[in-house]
Amino acid sequence: KQAEKNGYDHFMLKEIHEQPRAIKDTLSGRISPDGREVVLNEITIPDEQLLKTSKIFITACGTAYHAGLVGKNVIESLARVPVEVDIASEFRYRDPLLDKNTLVIVISQSGETADTLAALREAKRKGARVLAVTNVVDSSVAREADDVLYTWAGPEIAVASTKAYTTQLVAMYLVGLHLARRRGTLDAGETAEIVTGLRKLPDKVTAMLDNGKDIEEFARKYCRCENAFFIGRGLDYAVAMEGSLKLKEISYIHAEAYAAGELKHGTLALIIEGVPVIALATQQALFEKTVSNIKEVKARDAMVLAVAMRGLEEVAKVADHVMYIPRTHQALTPVLAVVPLQLLAYHMAVARGCDVDQPRNLAKSVTVE
Ligand code: G6P
Repeated sequence: KQAEKNGYDHFMLKEIHEQPRAIKDTLSGRISPDGREVVLNEITIPDEQLLKTSKIFITACGTAYHAGLVGKNVIESLARVPVEVDIASEFRYRDPLLDKNTLVIVISQSGETADTLAALREAKRKGARVLAVTNVVDSSVAREADDVLYTWAGPEIAVASTKAYTTQLVAMYLVGLHLARRRGTLDAGETAEIVTGLRKLPDKVTAMLDNGKDIEEFARKYCRCENAFFIGRGLDYAVAMEGSLKLKEISYIHAEAYAAGELKHGTLALIIEGVPVIALATQQALFEKTVSNIKEVKARDAMVLAVAMRGLEEVAKVADHVMYIPRTHQALTPVLAVVPLQLLAYHMAVARGCDVDQPRNLAKSVTVE
């Protein structure tokens, strides 16, 4: 087993470090030779049908659902089609309004999650077109969907998903760009800007992993906390949800993610002296708003760790600690912002002596309802 870990203490850490390679592989062969466009030959939906697509549903469980939340934001803004995201166990029982002009995207690392597979079958039964995003070739989800877009993360062993998530995000950008181009909602310049940004992500993730020491120290310092809160707005909120899931599932610290603007409606009551609040501030357009939310929790003496994009250094005036992600296109920040959160969860779990790769009560693939 040790050999398979390539010298890393745990599969989770190994898989975190495999992300640059996994992202590169997921992009490989899907970008035009001039590096300015996306080419997704595996999506065989006729252009005519793509133009008629009036609604998209994304359905998934766990971390894949969190990738779907980013997907909603990205696909809506690039391709201008309304997107709903549902947890698969909800979707399958809620009689969703689907027809032949609906595209249903199911996301599943394993391709075998019972609820996700049932959601896929329900979508097909109602006449929707189904696109699967999965990491396992020939999995049930891949076999039953109309089209398949594989993430090339490679086998993921740790229960807590890391490289599958970042490659699912990449898949969301690819789908968003593909739809946008077919539907004429994005010009060539904007497309090229995002595609260039995508190609640069692997090196940026590598740079972040090389500078991971601060997070380890921080994790050791705060590993005895019992509660932690993750806040953010827009894409940062979606990433906050994934960061919170990572922390709770492997360290057993109670963690909650909140839309930063919603704090006042309840969560603020739980903010007391010393409670760690991880605040994501990568979105320029929402920066001032997020900073004022950080001030709200600081006024209650919370301990704030901010994850901000380079260029937004103002955040250092209000937060106790800041971790910066390299500059990237606004839409692409989730791929970078999640990395420190994965490392934070990992190091906290290690510091608490938890079984990182095999957390209690959880399974890698949930094939029964
Ligand atoms: C389990 C795993 C998670 C995963 C979820 C969905 O809960 O522990 O890591 O995100 O299932 O799995 P899937 O294979 O469908 O992506």
